[in-house]
Amino acid sequence: MKIALLPGDGIGPEVAAAAREVLAVLAPDVGVEEHLVGGAAILALGTPLPDETLAACRAADAVLLGAVGLPQFDAADLRPEQALIGLRRELDVYANLRPAAGNGIDLLVVRELVGGLYYGARGTRDDGTVFDTLEYHPAQVERIARRAFELARTRSGRLTSVDKANVLETSRMWRRVVEEVAADYADVELDHVLVDAAAMYLVQTPARFDVILTENTFGDILSDEAAGLTGGLGLAASASLGDGRPGLFEPVHGSAPDIAGRGVANPAAMLRSVALLLEHGLGMQEPAHRLERAVEVALRTTHTPDLGGTASTEDFVRAVLAHLT
Ligand code: IPM
Ligand code: MG
Repeated sequence: MKIALLPGDGIGPEVAAAAREVLAVLAPDVGVEEHLVGGAAILALGTPLPDETLAACRAADAVLLGAVGLPQFDAADLRPEQALIGLRRELDVYANLRPAAGNGIDLLVVRELVGGLYYGARGTRDDGTVFDTLEYHPAQVERIARRAFELARTRSGRLTSVDKANVLETSRMWRRVVEEVAADYADVELDHVLVDAAAMYLVQTPARFDVILTENTFGDILSDEAAGLTGGLGLAASASLGDGRPGLFEPVHGSAPDIAGRGVANPAAMLRSVALLLEHGLGMQEPAHRLERAVEVALRTTHTPDLGGTASTEDFVRAVLAHLT
């Protein structure tokens, strides 16, 4: 089996190196090949998602990404983030799983990842008006809804679909399709919550949620909120899955250029993404659970600066390695 590793920008290469160290121990027979993506690819090859990188990802069993984004490209036409948007679409990894656990919270955000505002028509009209469009086809809603119901079955059997059906047409269609899919999952308890209320409940009564199903942009925002409530972006991992291989696995955090190159980035989110990769991407449950547990234990003793400590990235990796066996 083969993993395409895309370190990317900022702290991406540092957390990617941490992933490599752990994979070498946990899955020594799995090949790991690095490819350029994001700002690093723009600088080297003039494009955020080079053909060679995309081809390598398609040929891999799973894709592991560090982070993309560099301040120097903030207002540029060619931006590192386009690599991520393109890769998600090209691999059709429509189901983005973002677990958040800790501080009395234990939930899973299931974010639709290849539709909505991120992929709708956009442009500038003659009068200067700039627009992005929120579009969904019912089939896109149906497949993500099915995935969320399936996931709810493996957890508490509760699913909350989050939308803005009091205002948006797409949300009204979303709600209708989710209700239709619900007919096949009588054992799952479904409710619908408006996104603004969901943002408040997350802070006030997070235990009311188990699996949250939502569209792309709402999921982007709510998953950061959930991550913040459980200890920050340094801890939050994600899996993006389609109907086959490869899945795309990445920490929820960005490239953190402010701390890049100093060896202090928290690799926990990346290592948890590796655990998701082993489990959902390669079907290797046992090493996945071993890694998850080792990260939990390491987090009790070894704190990088984002968690108020002075440990380095490498200190954390060593703590994880020490608890793997
Ligand atoms: C995320 C990130 C990305 C997104 C950015 C970097 C394009 O915020 O994965 O949540 O908005 O999807
Ligand atoms: Mg985000």
